[in-house]
Amino acid sequence: MKAQELRETFLNFFKDRGHTVVGSSGLVPRGDPTLLFTSAGMVQFKKLWSGESPISYRRAVSIQKCLRASDLDEVGRRVKYNTFFEMLGNFSFGDYFKLDAIKWAWEFMTKVLKLSEDKLYVSVLSDDTEAYKIWRDEVDIDNKKIFKLGKDDNFWLPAGGTGACGPCSEIFYDLSEDVGCGKPDCRPGCKCDRFPEVWNLVFPQYDSQPDGTLKPLKNRGIDTGMGLERLLMVVQGKKSLFETDLFNPIVDEVCKICDVKYEENKVSINIIADHIRALTFAVAEGVYPSNVSRGYLLRRLLRRAQREMYEFGVKKPFLYKLVPIVADVMRDCYPELVSRRESVALIIKSEEESFLRTLGQGLVVFNEVLSGLKSRTIPGDAVFKLYDTYGFPPELVEELATHKGFKVDKVGFDKVMNEAKERTKMTGKFKDSAKVDWTEIFPITVTDFVGYKVLRTRSKVAKWRQVNDNIEIVLDRSPFYAEAGGQIGDCGKIYNSSMEVEVLDTKKLGDLYVHIGKLKKGNINNKMVICEVDKDRRKAVEQNHTGTHLIHSALRKVLGDHVHQDGSLVEADRFRFDFTHFKPLSNYEIEKVESLVNGWILENITVKTYVTSFDAAVDSGATAIFGEKYGDKVRVVRIGDISMELCGGTHVRSTAELIFLKIISETGIHTGIRRVEVLTGATAIKRLMGYESDLVSISDRLGVEPSQVKDKVYNLIEDNKKLRDRLMELERVSILNLVPEILSKKEVIDGIDVLISKVPTENIEILRILADKLRVGSQRVGVLCSVINGKPVFITFVSDDLKSQIKASIIANKIGKLAGGGGGGKDTIGQAGGKDTSELDYVLGHVPRLISEIIK
Ligand code: SER
Repeated sequence: MKAQELRETFLNFFKDRGHTVVGSSGLVPRGDPTLLFTSAGMVQFKKLWSGESPISYRRAVSIQKCLRASDLDEVGRRVKYNTFFEMLGNFSFGDYFKLDAIKWAWEFMTKVLKLSEDKLYVSVLSDDTEAYKIWRDEVDIDNKKIFKLGKDDNFWLPAGGTGACGPCSEIFYDLSEDVGCGKPDCRPGCKCDRFPEVWNLVFPQYDSQPDGTLKPLKNRGIDTGMGLERLLMVVQGKKSLFETDLFNPIVDEVCKICDVKYEENKVSINIIADHIRALTFAVAEGVYPSNVSRGYLLRRLLRRAQREMYEFGVKKPFLYKLVPIVADVMRDCYPELVSRRESVALIIKSEEESFLRTLGQGLVVFNEVLSGLKSRTIPGDAVFKLYDTYGFPPELVEELATHKGFKVDKVGFDKVMNEAKERTKMTGKFKDSAKVDWTEIFPITVTDFVGYKVLRTRSKVAKWRQVNDNIEIVLDRSPFYAEAGGQIGDCGKIYNSSMEVEVLDTKKLGDLYVHIGKLKKGNINNKMVICEVDKDRRKAVEQNHTGTHLIHSALRKVLGDHVHQDGSLVEADRFRFDFTHFKPLSNYEIEKVESLVNGWILENITVKTYVTSFDAAVDSGATAIFGEKYGDKVRVVRIGDISMELCGGTHVRSTAELIFLKIISETGIHTGIRRVEVLTGATAIKRLMGYESDLVSISDRLGVEPSQVKDKVYNLIEDNKKLRDRLMELERVSILNLVPEILSKKEVIDGIDVLISKVPTENIEILRILADKLRVGSQRVGVLCSVINGKPVFITFVSDDLKSQIKASIIANKIGKLAGGGGGGKDTIGQAGGKDTSELDYVLGHVPRLISEIIK
């Protein structure tokens, strides 16, 4: 039975027993910031057991894409572990319980898959007599084959730390003695490879609270999980996951390209085959290798696999070539991989290229570090250097070290790493680093921010201080927005009858708002102050902030759902928006994004903001940015049906306030991350007016209507090209007339004709044509020189009969050095450049000497 048949058999078995077939959720769990990746089939159903979501079916069956890094060190070395795997599972929410779950599992294993009962064993939680009795009495298994195990083995802890959990019962398969540990007490539950756990039947009955206490679960039920890869191994009678049809084509390709034998390199090849599957799936979902969270795990996997390849002597990007094979193996169940394979491969390739630039040297440094050690521990700063300079994830260093019998000083590494982080943090962010004491008028812990609704308040100064030329003021309440979430801080005025401060920026210090500015009049006093935000500037910032939300939605509509926000900077005169995408946007795509947003602006859609719980927000489809910390209560900014994002920033009331939006640049900032710079409102209009006025003056100059400028310019470009070609032709003919003259001025050195000449051209092609002509003959060597773009350029040449004796590249190299530039080329034609035209004669004067030195 092949993988796809096994998938279908499983789904059909439970469909026939009243289960709704539910598709796999994404590898990135939606709205569950507790998990990096989906780690089990149950993750998407957590709220059905807890009763937080309404239940539309009480029985479900699914095949879930999962990614686990918990056994990463074992992957490839052991026969039963994968990072990426598919989990087959059947679920009940307040419906059937242990009896049906156990009976159906057994029926599926023994009657449908016809696995030999002799090879199957089961375990239950030691005090779960109910499950024990079902196995013994209802299923009728010999009680010697039922193992009672402790909580470590037979209690499923909640995924992500909270929610459904409970005792479980596992089904094991006896692979064979030869993959086991051979110990006399080896039996199911032993950590060796002999008895892999094939199916885990969990009986969720508790709802684990954030503080770890267990409450009864509202809809107790069933959660089973069975790795497709493990089951396939058993069904196909193999002794390793990597020998099934899910892996064979990948393994074969690795062997072919690296020219290695699987039998001799199993571990390395398994690692590569495993990791490329995880990478392909995750990248296809829009997670790209990076230095943080999910992206970091991908980077680790990729670099681990690359290191294995490198040891095979493959020193070019290679893993990306496996992407189409993974897509092909998985196409029946995951057709989206096929349509995304090119872009996935592109991203993996560019990430491979970046590590390959330092991998080889990093390995040399690693070995040097090891050989220079007096103890068996690699110090933290060496690990940091490998990480920082050579891109070695510390976990990879640790792994390499372990295999050579060394340890790494993790504490030391963390310390050096934290120091480095502190150093980068200091640049940019407001830090209370000034060693200046505050003058406190009254104690304060929180500033009340009222700037969503009003831009003018009466407030009290709680404390203040002078830092160099600036005054810093903390207020009891403030309408000034403090820099956060990419939006810059507000400017404005704080004043009363006896003083005035011009506020130039506002930043947060914990929960306090610090207003930074210049004291214009009087001194800070304890009278009430009036705070006024610069309204026009704030309005421009709000136009831009709403602009980021609109552009985010438009980019997803035009480019696809893999687009996610990666950062933003919202200022008054423009905004910047960074997002995940793997290639430059075409002009057509940019225009489409602009016109979508401008359409929404015309529609005058209301922008609503409200505060709700994180879960309610994410459930209703609001976009959260991964890695951002959100409290229980979050603010949602909703723009009709177009956009819903968690956001604490300030926004316009309606899209029409943006007036107009224009993308002014699109660039790549790192692998898989693009950046657009965008204008809105008056700034965008001004920019367009500037273009318009340029167009008008160009049309005046050309003597045509603005509407005809495009055709006219295209025609001029065409004409220009034709004229250049014609000029080149003429120059070519006339330059060849110089041949007899140059030949007549030859100098003879050791029987060789040396030809040296300055040539009146600004075209290097012409210089080459002339050199080619002069080269035809015997015993000829020469140097031609022109001034091109204000710099001397030399072409060196050698006739064919001399090329083994004198090389044009060497002459060029020597001339380059003499002229203060560089030079090189081929045996018969070379090129050199100089810096200063005034030294041209000096350089040419040395050519005969250089050539005679080379001849000798
Ligand atoms: N949640 C359990 C597991 O992942 C059963 O689905 O093993």
